[in-house]
Amino acid sequence: MLNQVRVRVPATSANLGPGFDAFGLALTLYDELIVTPGGSGVRVEVVGAGQGEVPLDESHLVVRSIRAGLQALEAEVPGFSLLCENQIPHGRGLGSSSAAIVGGLAAAYGLAGVQLDRDRIVELATEIEGHPDNVAASALGGFTIAWTDAGSGRAVRLQPGEALVGVAYVPDNRVLTKEARGLLPNVVPHADAAANAGRAALLVAALSGRPELLMTATEDRLHQEYREPAMPESLALVHKLRGSGLPAVVSGAGPTVLVLGSPVNQAPPPPDGWTRYDLGIDPVGVQVWSMESG
Ligand SMILES: Nc1ncnc2c1ncn2[C@@H]1O[C@H](COP(=O)(O)OP(=O)(O)OP(=O)(O)O)[C@@H](O)[C@H]1O
Ligand SMILES: [Mg+2]
Repeated sequence: MLNQVRVRVPATSANLGPGFDAFGLALTLYDELIVTPGGSGVRVEVVGAGQGEVPLDESHLVVRSIRAGLQALEAEVPGFSLLCENQIPHGRGLGSSSAAIVGGLAAAYGLAGVQLDRDRIVELATEIEGHPDNVAASALGGFTIAWTDAGSGRAVRLQPGEALVGVAYVPDNRVLTKEARGLLPNVVPHADAAANAGRAALLVAALSGRPELLMTATEDRLHQEYREPAMPESLALVHKLRGSGLPAVVSGAGPTVLVLGSPVNQAPPPPDGWTRYDLGIDPVGVQVWSMESG
């Protein structure tokens, strides 16, 4: 009997306005992995997002992450087949790369028969991803605050308030994270830094059960406007939504726009060429099931 491992891992939105490189929110949009050990190499099948685009060999991000996880756990699994059923769109600011990495690491724990160590997964995933904000939310669920400590990824999870939802507006086009980062200045006015620190602290309160503070708490002066040249339509949508009283932010490095709020919020239909996803907050982060298979 082989031990088949199934993994479900959530999409995430990072930054949330003022929490640049620190805040993350896990969303109820998922990639699923089925890993069956056997043989010596890998066989990869992808259905959904990334199908026909991502490599199907050892360089596949999930495969690399499974290998890294097995190595960290000192577990021997020479070969496996991997089926990816992906709902998280790629390159849109919804944390698909973090989900692939956290999902792969969690699968390694399942294959090794070791109980998930979520803090260790944040650490390992940060090494692969390069920054901890999305991987933290994918690994821990809920609302996360992430940082690095002497280069190691760390995070705490906070319980988001009940009835919080996220409406994601996702355009057809992608924006390279590198391009979006390149637009940020090296120096910012002290007043802007101070405003963001205050808003970020306020956002912790807003997300922890004070939704009436969300509009003010999602104001940002450190990154969103600087990135307008890379995603003018996203910024225009943020301005339009905020103008009608909806707390909209750029999700991660964009170009997705996320509206936070309660179920009664009056989020409008998507602009032409955009898709609207009505999402809840994933409370638990990555999940793994191991089962016997013939
Ligand atoms: N499920 C996956 N399987 C394999 N490779 C993936 C997967 N998800 C992401 N990738 C790789 O990561 C790339 C997308 O990463 P990128 O960081 O640019 O976007 P994102 O993670 O969707 O958005 P963001 O990091 O802004 O939230 C894809 O082009 C692909 O190479
Ligand atoms: Mg990414």
